[in-house]
Amino acid sequence: MIKVDSENPDLSKIQIVANIIQNGGLVAFPTETVYGLGADALNPSAVLALFNAKNRPLDNPPIIHIAEKSAIYPLVAEVPPEAELLMRKFWPGPLTLIFKRSKNIPDVTVAGLDTIAIRIPKHKIALQIIKQSQRPIAAPSANLATKPSPTTAQHVYEDLNGRIDAIIDGGATSIGVESTVVDLSGDKPVLLRPGGTPFEALKKELSNLELHPFVSAECDLSLDKISSPGMKHKHYAPKAEVLLVEGNIQDVVNKIKELSKYYVAKNMAVGILATDETYSSYVGHVIKSLGSRFNLSVVASNLFSLLREVDSQGVDVILAESVSTEGLGLAVMNRLRKASCYRIIKAS
Ligand code: TXA
Ligand code: MG
Repeated sequence: MIKVDSENPDLSKIQIVANIIQNGGLVAFPTETVYGLGADALNPSAVLALFNAKNRPLDNPPIIHIAEKSAIYPLVAEVPPEAELLMRKFWPGPLTLIFKRSKNIPDVTVAGLDTIAIRIPKHKIALQIIKQSQRPIAAPSANLATKPSPTTAQHVYEDLNGRIDAIIDGGATSIGVESTVVDLSGDKPVLLRPGGTPFEALKKELSNLELHPFVSAECDLSLDKISSPGMKHKHYAPKAEVLLVEGNIQDVVNKIKELSKYYVAKNMAVGILATDETYSSYVGHVIKSLGSRFNLSVVASNLFSLLREVDSQGVDVILAESVSTEGLGLAVMNRLRKASCYRIIKAS
């Protein structure tokens, strides 16, 4: 574990991890969204080790991180005009774009697909690692597959200690949910994963951008509808069973109280993910507030770490309140629906 100041990274510490990357090793580091687990994207055995360390299925490719726009050209077959527009507006930042890929990329890095996911992170440590290692860096979120993504170095340590070479501790990440993924490799642009860049902001630039049906799905979609490998794998699931309660807020609170009584009567320990506005309505359980439901960026930044925290208190069931799907709320609701494995209860 190497502590690095995220505002003013010590270049000699970064050089240590740049050397590890160049030698085919694995390093976890902070980005503005979540912590990533990095490997040299052009080194097939390093990327294979990356999949193994996370227990990640080989058919789910990682995002490739670069430090400047010109670094995409060797990686992609073409850059469509929509990509130029989005890159100018949103890079560096929490936006991943899917391109048709070039032949220079090892097959394992893109899981055999003919496309590639690329982003420029907006974080001094991440950018400096990419620059000093002089490689494009494959970096999925630095959690064990199926666990909530890590927003602190401690989360990475809990999941991956002993399985990777180093962790850079640059403090908690600011956005707290992963980047938004937009596919520009097909006939029309499609948002595949909601994340740190809001759909509304992207739609302003690209009026024909569509949401993939999976993004707001309330049930598991059939396999033929799936267009991102990440869509079909289990995700963000704590040990406890998560139930997501949706509806207007008073109905949600009443339903959660009713459910918690029911579970307590069955001798089960209950955790509640509430919001500032509802927090005091509940008593006697592990209760955490995600923040104000009117400040969805704060809710997003607390989501994964509170899921882990409630889970670590040994509860059997976590009852989570729904929030609005505006702005970062779309990413929050998408992660909560997946964390609940689509066990969604409509309160009325
Ligand atoms: O914010 C983030 O994006 C973080 C930080 C570390 O940058 N990274 C991250 O990576 O969330 P990961 O690997 O956990 O998620 C990558 C997502 C997966 O859902 C994967 O299926 C999708 O991107 N993906 C990768 N390559 C793709 C491709 N060629 N076509 C469609 N989806 C792709
Ligand atoms: Mg992930």
